[in-house]
Amino acid sequence: MGELLKVEDLIKSYSTGKNEFKALKGISFTVEEGEFVLLYGDSGSGKSTALNIIGGMDRASSGKVIVYNRDITSYSDKQLNEYRRNYIGFVFQSYNLINNLSARENIMLVSGKDPDVADKMLEEMGLKDRADAFPTELSGGEAQRVALARAMAKSPAMLLCDEPTGALDYDNSRRVMQAIKRLNRESGITVLMVSHNLAFLPIADKVIKLKSGWIESISENDSPISVEELEW
Ligand SMILES: Nc1ncnc2c1ncn2[C@@H]1O[C@H](COP(=O)(O)OP(=O)(O)O)[C@@H](O)[C@H]1O
Ligand SMILES: [Mg+2]
Repeated sequence: MGELLKVEDLIKSYSTGKNEFKALKGISFTVEEGEFVLLYGDSGSGKSTALNIIGGMDRASSGKVIVYNRDITSYSDKQLNEYRRNYIGFVFQSYNLINNLSARENIMLVSGKDPDVADKMLEEMGLKDRADAFPTELSGGEAQRVALARAMAKSPAMLLCDEPTGALDYDNSRRVMQAIKRLNRESGITVLMVSHNLAFLPIADKVIKLKSGWIESISENDSPISVEELEW
């Protein structure tokens, strides 16, 4: 398996009045194709900032983000748009579904795929019977799995998840985590997931710990466990 992502000395600073605040102070790591990588750290440590830059939704102040040997930090807005569309599936804590579209239509709109593909993705998420449901009729866990189906429908190179279980109760968190892990293991999709939940550490192939904009540690896990084995 080859290297999919290489982050090199990534810095993100915000100017707050006459001061400068560095949300990322120079972080470097790599992600291999097919890996399940967890970006872990306290609130405010820079996890979302890093994920948004990697996903082409925000721009770095300096450093490189190399995806399949191309540095996306040098991309124009148009190139970044294409990069997001063609390479990235994004799942947010807040689902971000479109409320006046059904589950099926949400998937079709974002992926540009036909209803059959949408229905197949929903079936994979255990939501075969919910295709016509609107977001407000779905439980949090169902809504998040529709969001996952939507992110996956375009077969992205990388699935980026920002606290995907942050708004869910225990049972729904388990279901969503199982779905993400299954996509990783069975479809070989590379996952970069942000969480501050310590419990998730044992299921990842690699854990990158962030602290105040720095990488505190990177650890590889030779025998990650399944979500079924996980208790929290
Ligand atoms: N647009 C912004 N302007 C100024 N500071 C920001 C902005 N976005 C994020 N930050 C700051 O950057 C730090 C990291 O934020 P974030 O990446 O969202 O952390 P995490 O996702 O780990 O909780 C925080 O201190 C946050 O307040
Ligand atoms: Mg965050």
